[in-house]
Amino acid sequence: MTLEFPTHVDSEESKAETLARIKKNLEKTGMEYLYSIAEEMAESPYALELMRLGGLNGPLTDAMFQNMEGQPGAKASENPADQRLITSPLVQAVRHRFQAFQAFMHRLLHSGAIPPTGTIASVPCGYMRELLTLDFTDCQPRIIGIDKDPTALSGGKRLAKALGLNNVDFFHKNALALGAIESIDAIVSNGLNIYLSDKEVLQLYQQAFGSLKSGGYFITSHLTPEEDWNFSQIDEQELEVERNFLQHIVGARWLPFHRHHTTTKRQLEGIGFEVMDITFDPACRFPVFLTRKP
Ligand SMILES: C[S@@+](CC[C@H](N)C(=O)[O-])C[C@H]1O[C@@H](n2cnc3c(N)ncnc32)[C@H](O)[C@@H]1O
Repeated sequence: MTLEFPTHVDSEESKAETLARIKKNLEKTGMEYLYSIAEEMAESPYALELMRLGGLNGPLTDAMFQNMEGQPGAKASENPADQRLITSPLVQAVRHRFQAFQAFMHRLLHSGAIPPTGTIASVPCGYMRELLTLDFTDCQPRIIGIDKDPTALSGGKRLAKALGLNNVDFFHKNALALGAIESIDAIVSNGLNIYLSDKEVLQLYQQAFGSLKSGGYFITSHLTPEEDWNFSQIDEQELEVERNFLQHIVGARWLPFHRHHTTTKRQLEGIGFEVMDITFDPACRFPVFLTRKP
């Protein structure tokens, strides 16, 4: 069952314990030659947290975006291991995904497709940076964040406060059982479906469908399998390191759930959404779907 993940985990594991656990696992599978990658990456607090969790919770996801160009107070890390993580092909795709969500939301907000004082939501929200840092010059929507992790919600509240936004509400809820929430103009959803079985993914999309107004928009993303990738846009050596790190060191929990973009399109259409547009990152690893409830 994947529902308990990836919410916040208060890891008790020290860095030495994490590395010792990884070393033991690598030895068991005859891959101890990869241990130097684990040691190198453990110099990044973010990569170390990823090794502990096996996935990205709200705070760790936000760490991938907070220093992107254009983000308030952005300051690139000088730690070479942080740099290695951030410039890895997957994190580059993850950052493109963030920008694609914001581009679709700007299109909807500034074309009037979403009323200026409409309601927009993120499910699950994490720190909700992708909505909180939108350009609101000609609109003032109400913003709702929903997440199952109190730590993610606190981080989102801190960010909203730092940005001076006061039209924001956060709710502690299970995204797969939203129940009756008010009707919403647009919902964005990133980073939960990649850990879910097909049945759970459909449940998530169904919950979003039920919470949207007729004519409302749903934006989501999904990680694709290798056969979808554009390898001309991926550095081969970096990819090899990434594969070793994610598969054998981190044991990333999203790896079993990659879906072809046509599968995600079919799943969304099966729920009743009209797929209006799909944006691909250059490597075609993390497509973003703009859909509409008829
Ligand atoms: C990878 S993060 C993505 C957060 C955010 N959408 C973003 O892109 O920054 C996944 C989030 O899903 C939340 N989560 C996991 N299972 C959940 C559930 N069943 N209901 C609500 N939130 C959940 C986690 O707490 C975490 O904040």
